[in-house]
Amino acid sequence: MSYQNLLFDVADRIATITVNRPDKLNALNDATIAELGRAIDEAAARDDVGGVLLTGAGRAFVAGADISELQSQSPLEGRRRARDGQAVFSRFERSGKPVVAAINGFALGGGCELAMACHVRVASEKAKLGQPEVKLGIVPGYGGTQRLPRLVGRGAALRLLLTGEMIDATEAHRLGLVDQVVAPDALLDTARALLQAMLANAPLALAGCIEAVHRGLDASLDEGCTIESDAFGLLSATADMQEGMRAFLDKRAPTFHGR
Ligand code: COA
Repeated sequence: MSYQNLLFDVADRIATITVNRPDKLNALNDATIAELGRAIDEAAARDDVGGVLLTGAGRAFVAGADISELQSQSPLEGRRRARDGQAVFSRFERSGKPVVAAINGFALGGGCELAMACHVRVASEKAKLGQPEVKLGIVPGYGGTQRLPRLVGRGAALRLLLTGEMIDATEAHRLGLVDQVVAPDALLDTARALLQAMLANAPLALAGCIEAVHRGLDASLDEGCTIESDAFGLLSATADMQEGMRAFLDKRAPTFHGR
């Protein structure tokens, strides 16, 4: 599949998706959002892909939605744009294959929202994060008002949303907005190593964890535990469970096939 505004590269079972509009700090115009949707679908469909690394070209991860497109939108177009973007970001969040964001620079507005839709966030010491939409007279439209409080809690989320301030990677780590901070040169290798550690495990078990966490966060504890026990029971039907346990008892590394 070919892309205008993304790079898509597969190596060692990792699909690296790079948002590639560096002259516009990788701002998400509608075309780029649509390509992100196609790219995560391609990663999901390909047998040679086990996980996804998402990053940005140049000095930004993503500096937000493309303001030049937003400025002339009507109310109905705005709502449509937000719904379309939310649907694409949800596909990252619901991907059964792990998605790691490698935040190389600015992750603002839609960039911060895109990173939050990924499963794990690794940030460069140079990264800057924030939801500056109020400075433009809008609210976040790609899930930011919902995912930010789920990640950092209501108070910290409202602080960031209402001030629109930009925070550095250390502060983002302190808040729980990113999971790890590393030197800029180590960013991609760290994200790849993290994915490789995940990909050594049983693929259906990875998908089960992602789904249980994702669905469980929107459910009561009881309902969430039911989701978990269903997944726990279902995985007993897999060859990979047999292999994982046999390998442990045989004192060897398992070989998983995703079935
Ligand atoms: N939408 C459209 N274009 C954007 C953009 C965005 N969200 N963010 C950056 N750009 C463009 C700039 O217009 C500029 O284009 P130009 O060279 O054709 O003029 C280019 O990217 C470089 O940005 P610039 O502002 O010159 O870089 P900077 O280092 O001075 O500032 C930022 C960097 C990230 C602080 C600044 O670009 C910014 O505040 N961006 C908007 C962030 C935002 O509000 N995001 C939420 C949008 S809903």
